[in-house]
Amino acid sequence: MREFKITTMVKECSVDELSKEDRELVDAAKEATRTSYAVYSKFHVGAAIRMADGSIVKGSNQENAAYPSGLCAERTAAFYASASHPGMAMKKIAIAAWTKLRMPENLEWEDYFQANPISPCGACRQALLEYEAAYGPIEVILYGREKTYILPSISSLLPFSFTEF
Ligand code: THU
Repeated sequence: MREFKITTMVKECSVDELSKEDRELVDAAKEATRTSYAVYSKFHVGAAIRMADGSIVKGSNQENAAYPSGLCAERTAAFYASASHPGMAMKKIAIAAWTKLRMPENLEWEDYFQANPISPCGACRQALLEYEAAYGPIEVILYGREKTYILPSISSLLPFSFTEF
């Protein structure tokens, strides 16, 4: 019997250490949270995808009274990206989220963002993996006020994944 370890490479940095292009992508993810429809959870998530042609496609979480009918920011952005740029590689995705729940009143908008990054749910990882398998690695930038994580690919977030049948 052979045992092996699967490792995930994560870079941790402050958002200020990112390149100008990556800071622009993070800012786009933060801006995208303004379009979130989060009337139930009050948790506003934004995602921004850098396409191979340099353009940015944004998405935000969209909730529904029938809860499972809503969609996360990451899949909203990825499906919009594929629908508007069919066949084009998605190079990077940045994700940001804020809530006023359990936070003091009257902070600046920027200060409501999560101190530690949030990470895409399993269903979003699976959906993004499909595009990664088709068009190449999608780098992941998870924004937090106190620290930002960078991962090299969606597959690094979803080992032993299902990509073909
Ligand atoms: N949500 C996202 O949009 N992305 C994530 O990575 C985690 C969760 C949304 C779904 C729901 O609208 C709200 O955040 C609370 O779970």
